[in-house]
Amino acid sequence: MPGKRFYIETFGCQMNVHDSEKISGVLSREGYRAADSAGESDLIVFNTCSIRHKAEQKFFSRLGRIRKLKKKNPNLRIAVAGCIAQQQGEKVLKRAPYVDFVFGPQNIHLLADLVRRSAPTVADGDNPGLAEKDLPAIRASGSRAWVAVMYGCNNFCSYCVVPYTRGRERSRPSANILREIEELAERGFREVTLLGQNVNSYRSEIGFPELLEKINSVAGIERIRFVTSHPRDLSERLISAIGELEKVCEHFHLPLQSGSTRILESMNRGYSYDEYRRRIDRLRSKVPGISLTTDIITGFPGETDADHQQTISALADVEFDGIFAFKFSPRTGTAAAVMNPQVMDEIKSRRILEILEVQDEITLKLNKKLEGSVQKVLVEGLSETDNKVLSGRTRSNKIVNFVGNAFCIGSTVPVRIVRARKHSLDGEPL
Ligand code: SAH
Ligand code: SF4
Ligand code: F3S
Repeated sequence: MPGKRFYIETFGCQMNVHDSEKISGVLSREGYRAADSAGESDLIVFNTCSIRHKAEQKFFSRLGRIRKLKKKNPNLRIAVAGCIAQQQGEKVLKRAPYVDFVFGPQNIHLLADLVRRSAPTVADGDNPGLAEKDLPAIRASGSRAWVAVMYGCNNFCSYCVVPYTRGRERSRPSANILREIEELAERGFREVTLLGQNVNSYRSEIGFPELLEKINSVAGIERIRFVTSHPRDLSERLISAIGELEKVCEHFHLPLQSGSTRILESMNRGYSYDEYRRRIDRLRSKVPGISLTTDIITGFPGETDADHQQTISALADVEFDGIFAFKFSPRTGTAAAVMNPQVMDEIKSRRILEILEVQDEITLKLNKKLEGSVQKVLVEGLSETDNKVLSGRTRSNKIVNFVGNAFCIGSTVPVRIVRARKHSLDGEPL
């Protein structure tokens, strides 16, 4: 089908963004070209997220608006991928009969077949063999690449849909991962971020620390990152590996969710606040200066003011470099959706504001400590707001903006930090 064009809209996490790169790869192999906008395309793929109600709502309202395009161009095909597709399958077609086909993240390998069919189809089955199937990915060119190392999650945190949408944990064979990363290095990528819903429980013929060791010796790769880790699986071995392997960056994202052990239990997180805190101490003692980020949920069912205050104290106690905070969103099919009592939305809103206020001050304070220091910045591109300003990241994953020459893009340059802001640092190249 020469000349057909596709357009992908992606919602949700990095895993989804990377899945969209694979969807692009499969479609290109099928002869499709990328279109610049939805209006110019023959196939629109929505790669959806169902982590919170808002994400789901955003997609369905967007889908409703796209319907008009189909009236103008009857040959336009609409596909729904991602976590909503995997979880709701047939229901997506019932709700939006103008959708042509639906395929979940476990079924991207079927896409080549799906685009050839004319009747509406749903591919939402579990795919235990997913980890063995390598699909071509088309990455936005640049210096940083995502590499999936494991899929799925076995944790069943009581609030979370991911185990229902991404299925059980399965790890890719390490040889496939290494081959992919060697190819990326040859093509000029300098940084890889290893992806998994529960990345530190990676286990093939080797475990996660050994995988990091092998990637550490791939020539051309300068930086290794990974998300997301679960505190329960944070082993002493992994902590040592982060400290010892020079390419593994000094940044760790370790979702805490709540500072109240009672709430953590009800979330089925498998650790108490004290256990979490001890792991942070271990990380800091083995990797001095490591930057730490986390996720927090406010207004989990049964969360009292006292629980909320414990979360606030935890933020002051740990001093994270940054956090992502979310209001609890009840998801159908999860245990927490039917727990009592649910917390009123006004209370969730008030609590999240308090949390963000406390954290903003901590983030700024920690960023200010970097003023005057020299950081190695991997330059990613031009800043979004000013095309004379370059933007990149420190090893600790902080964004640095500085005036510089565009030929630096893709290389690592020393930059002196001159001013700290809440979400970025201003620098001067040396
Ligand atoms: N596997 C990762 C990513 C999960 S989703 C992990 O375990 O961290 C990213 C974040 O979304 C979670 O850490 C949690 O803070 C938040 N989240 C998940 N489900 C949620 C829900 N139902 N309501 C609000 N936030 C939620
Ligand atoms: Fe969801 Fe918990 Fe698994 Fe993370 S670890 S994906 S929060 S079930
Ligand atoms: Fe969303 Fe699925 Fe990722 S629910 S956060 S796209 S794993």
